[in-house]
Amino acid sequence: MFASIPASPRCFVIGHPIAHSRSSMIHGGWIAEHGLAGSYDRIDVTPADLPDFLARFRAGAFAGGNVTVPHKQAVLPLLDHVGEAARAIGAVNMLWREEDRLCGDNTDAVGFLGHLDACVGGWDARAATALVIGAGGAARAVCHGLKARGLARIVVVNRSPARAQELAAAFGAPLAAQAWKHLPALVGEADLIVNTTSLGMTGQPQLDLDLARLRPGTIVDDIVYVPLKTALLIEAERRGGVPVDGLGMLLHQAVPGFARWFGLTPSVTPALRARLEADILGH
Ligand code: ATR
Repeated sequence: MFASIPASPRCFVIGHPIAHSRSSMIHGGWIAEHGLAGSYDRIDVTPADLPDFLARFRAGAFAGGNVTVPHKQAVLPLLDHVGEAARAIGAVNMLWREEDRLCGDNTDAVGFLGHLDACVGGWDARAATALVIGAGGAARAVCHGLKARGLARIVVVNRSPARAQELAAAFGAPLAAQAWKHLPALVGEADLIVNTTSLGMTGQPQLDLDLARLRPGTIVDDIVYVPLKTALLIEAERRGGVPVDGLGMLLHQAVPGFARWFGLTPSVTPALRARLEADILGH
């Protein structure tokens, strides 16, 4: 699929800290499943060390890799080519090398959509209005994906209203920002609700969302995956909503990178998901 795949690609995920990253479980699982030569390692790179790391990458030490906090924005101006999704989202999570050119893109929107497609086939033909809660990097990826699928209306609500307005203005129609106080009514208008904040994650406060007006069949997607089933998803399901968890997005966002580095499109299998679930439950 892509030109010049090395015989034994060396790949990485860089971040600081990096010990928590589950990307090596995903890519390591695919390397083993397909009996491939190559590696995928977690590498702790501080912000000060980022230019040196990229110089080694450019010189041929690696085929590609993932980028996580705090480098997702910092890496942007250091690349020779930035894909359209990464430019729109304003962050890079996947890198590859073309000879001595460093390239990057963002696969979070693809991951978000891939998991939604796998869980609720044909959802985009039925969904007209999406409600996106949050306005950070994750919200930008979700909005990029939803806009690409042609939803008629995408309403962004954020604790800090200026950030929601900024996001809506940057992406343009069909995005619009609304105030937090309108959430109970917006819940009743939405066909798809996405929590892109970290609220509801273990150790964080709950997302206090009034679901009284939720219509049965509304998809409720929480990008939080620790715990696997958040209080939001449990309450949505109790009210007849269709819950979609965040672990699938993590798994699906890894697919395009692996395909590029190893020349083989991997599958998000139940067995891989089960291994990630066991790891999450064990912590
Ligand atoms: P990410 O890149 O993971 O999206 P981020 O850019 O830090 O992370 O964005 C975090 C999002 O969670 C923001 O929308 C943030 O709202 P603010 O813009 O008002 O900060 C939201 N968030 C975090 N803690 C929150 C809280 N206690 N209540 C409501 N929203 C919260």
